[in-house]
Amino acid sequence: MSRSQPKPHHSSSSQPAPAAGQYTWAGRFSEPMSDLVKRYTASVNFDRRMWRQDIRGSLAHARMLARQGIISVQDLSDIERGMAQIVGEIESGAFEWSLDLEDVHLNIEKRLTTIVGDAGKRLHTGRSRNDQVATDIRLYLRDSIDDIEVLLRQFQSNLLDLAEREAATPMPGFTHLQVAQPITFGHHLLAWYEMTRRDAERFADVRKRTNRLPLGAAALAGTTYPIDREFVAAELGFEGVCENSLDAVSDRDFAIEFCAAAALLMMHVSRMSEELVLWMNPRFGFVRIADRFCTGSSIMPQKKNPDVPELARGKTGRVYGHLSALLTLMKGQPLAYNKDNQEDKEPLFDAVDTVTDTLRIFAEMIRGVEARPENMADALRQGFATATDLADYLTRKGLPFRDAHEAVGLAVRRAEELGVDLPQLPLTELQAFSPLIGDDIFAVLTVDGSLASRSHIGGTAPEQVRAAIDRARSRFS
Ligand code: ARG
Repeated sequence: MSRSQPKPHHSSSSQPAPAAGQYTWAGRFSEPMSDLVKRYTASVNFDRRMWRQDIRGSLAHARMLARQGIISVQDLSDIERGMAQIVGEIESGAFEWSLDLEDVHLNIEKRLTTIVGDAGKRLHTGRSRNDQVATDIRLYLRDSIDDIEVLLRQFQSNLLDLAEREAATPMPGFTHLQVAQPITFGHHLLAWYEMTRRDAERFADVRKRTNRLPLGAAALAGTTYPIDREFVAAELGFEGVCENSLDAVSDRDFAIEFCAAAALLMMHVSRMSEELVLWMNPRFGFVRIADRFCTGSSIMPQKKNPDVPELARGKTGRVYGHLSALLTLMKGQPLAYNKDNQEDKEPLFDAVDTVTDTLRIFAEMIRGVEARPENMADALRQGFATATDLADYLTRKGLPFRDAHEAVGLAVRRAEELGVDLPQLPLTELQAFSPLIGDDIFAVLTVDGSLASRSHIGGTAPEQVRAAIDRARSRFS
């Protein structure tokens, strides 16, 4: 495509109009677009990643046009042949993307016309790039959500395997990052599972509202041709059509919802990352992460750094940014389509890429996480983790819970003075805080006793952890 050099504005009226057909809207224009504007307005560099969806949408549209007698059967077969060739060209890298043709839609349509002639020019009958691009994005996002669902499931399945191995491994549970009560490592990992389970539900929900067909809305008002939107929807696997043409071409709420779901998922991933970073630190030493997920330092030879979780924590910020960008993009737009909407793609694509890459690496990394039970047990001995068990014991013996709480507080103080954990206090010392304490207390104060006693749905007892894993796995089948 050659186009004459941009010229100074004041001389434009004396120049001859470019020949009709030289570029897409040449008929209406008296001078070519300036190079600056061309670069500013073109989207082909980033929207070409939707080429498969664009072709899929065009083929469904063409089939409908032929079925309705709007184009001929011969036109359809030319279009199908041309598109098949274009697929080959793009896949092999031979396709020449041109900035002059602005976006993925015009690039493909122009090439089709070069290959098959007039049939290519008939493809755009009853369609606008406004409903075309809205369709492409929805198809692209639907495909991306399907990928994300598979990856989430992989992550969850690997997480459940680790949780099963560690179903009975005691570790301290924290509140305020202070040792609180004994839990099992498996139980902790199942909390992560629950977080991602809701994430998966959110993506499935976004998919439903994404999966509606905009085509047929044309530029904004619908089209004069006798189209069959239901047919196109069925061809493309949409659950239905967008029921208002203005809304169909203009709203991007589905992309915003996706970014919201992505932001929540990344928030969860970021919290997991923070815990992994802490647990890898030798002060905790709760886990080892396989070397292939860590990096060294260029100066400090001894270092092994948790770069993957740190980076995931960092990347969470950019997904929040994309959510905010899309909300802001939409808020001032009057109906119907505005060019502003072209700005929906880069944030959306980057959110998709970030979530996809992060899930892929986390699914793998979780398989390289190895618990260090001895360090978890050490940490458990340092925070009076079974103090609540002692209070519950006294309550079971008839003391009101608030009084039990106070008595145990005093016992903890005493243990701290002596530099020992609660189970190390002699029975006589313990009995000074309450005569209700008998020698059955020592079973209660052990970590295993503490864990086993929390045996209800959602509790940390190893048998409950195993039951939760079974329930989770049965959801996969
Ligand atoms: N590249 C455009 C976009 O991404 C396609 C739609 C263009 N429509 C228009 N009327 N300029 O939104």
